[in-house]
Amino acid sequence: MSVVGTSTAPDGRDVRRTPAPRHGDRIETGLGIDPDQLPDGLVVADEHGRVICFNAAAARITALSAADALGQPLEKALPLEDLEGRRWWQLTDPYGGLAIRVRQPERNLLLPCGREVLVCARYVRTEPLGPVHRVIVSLRDTEARRRTERSHAELIATVAHELRSPLTSVKGFTATLLAKWARFTDDQKRLMLETVDADADRVTRLIAELLDISRIDSGRLEVRRQPVDIGAAVGRHIQAYVAAGQPADRFLLRIEQPLPALWADPDKVDQVLSNLLENAVRHGEGTVTIDVTPSASPREGEETGTSVTVSDEGPGIPEESMNRVFTRFWRGSKRGGTGLGLYIVKGIVEAHGGTITVGRASVGGAEFRFTLPVGAPAYLA
Ligand SMILES: Nc1ncnc2c1ncn2[C@@H]1O[C@H](COP(=O)(O)OP(=O)(O)OP(=O)(O)O)[C@@H](O)[C@H]1O
Ligand SMILES: [Mg+2]
Repeated sequence: MSVVGTSTAPDGRDVRRTPAPRHGDRIETGLGIDPDQLPDGLVVADEHGRVICFNAAAARITALSAADALGQPLEKALPLEDLEGRRWWQLTDPYGGLAIRVRQPERNLLLPCGREVLVCARYVRTEPLGPVHRVIVSLRDTEARRRTERSHAELIATVAHELRSPLTSVKGFTATLLAKWARFTDDQKRLMLETVDADADRVTRLIAELLDISRIDSGRLEVRRQPVDIGAAVGRHIQAYVAAGQPADRFLLRIEQPLPALWADPDKVDQVLSNLLENAVRHGEGTVTIDVTPSASPREGEETGTSVTVSDEGPGIPEESMNRVFTRFWRGSKRGGTGLGLYIVKGIVEAHGGTITVGRASVGGAEFRFTLPVGAPAYLA
């Protein structure tokens, strides 16, 4: 509950002594906004350093009730310490410090319970260089920021790990070859160089994927739209698999006509298809069925789109993992790759204004379905 206990003249000076704040009085923001509705903690102290406003978010963050905080000296209601354990109010001395000071920039401070909070403060003076009339403190929980920091740290650790294993093999084989070149037969040398070559490819691919991820995460993934025949694109991928030794009857492509003309980035659509087909072949089993159908556009206001469903007859994705398949580095089995494929697929589909879902195919395996809006440029509309 927030409270105010003083009234001020239009020029900002006090017209009467501050009465003890009463529980239940409202602070007037002039906008009809109750401080309890503010998402951040708000604590206001009067010219004597006593708390006159302690909103609901402040009570939640400090675990101190407004009733206990109101009327207390600021340093008691909000016993903040910096990371070296120094008392913050003594250190900054809002009422006695430099008269030109009007604010404290954002700081990471600690509450006695050890909880971290982001704090910034403003000193309101009735006139420039005059005494401090109000100290307004805002408090923000650091939990969400900590979580993103942790996820960045984890990302770096995982990336380092993923890069290290192929590089270890590149380094190991090249060092061995250089040191003992004459001792190996041509076939042995060829085998080692082939491994080095494959591992170098893996590093290159991983770096390309990481660049895609950073573009997706920062919203900089560029989509260069042009007409795309998605059925023909799927057909090309299937041909490539068959040429590489997969039996032709492993794939079933069904295209429902007529399809709306689709405008999309052909390279990116290829990336999506190649990831989904690779997953179906590598993680799934049996026949891989690809259905291309017209559908309602995922975008509001657009009527048509194109859906592509890739399903297989393998073990599928366990129900409890379905909401994790699109997160980066998640892989379900030992056979998995780096676990970036589906994260990038989702990023590309969404950059096109589309949607992607995962489910269970009627025949038992995994079923991935993405829908892209027609995406025709405005001049064709
Ligand atoms: N068709 C499928 N059937 C069963 N499991 C699948 C299928 N597709 C994906 N998965 C599971 O989802 C996980 C994540 O897939 P994703 O494509 O993101 O990564 P990956 O294939 O392991 O590696 P990458 O694609 O980066 O080389 C896989 O490791 C696999 O366990
Ligand atoms: Mg994959």
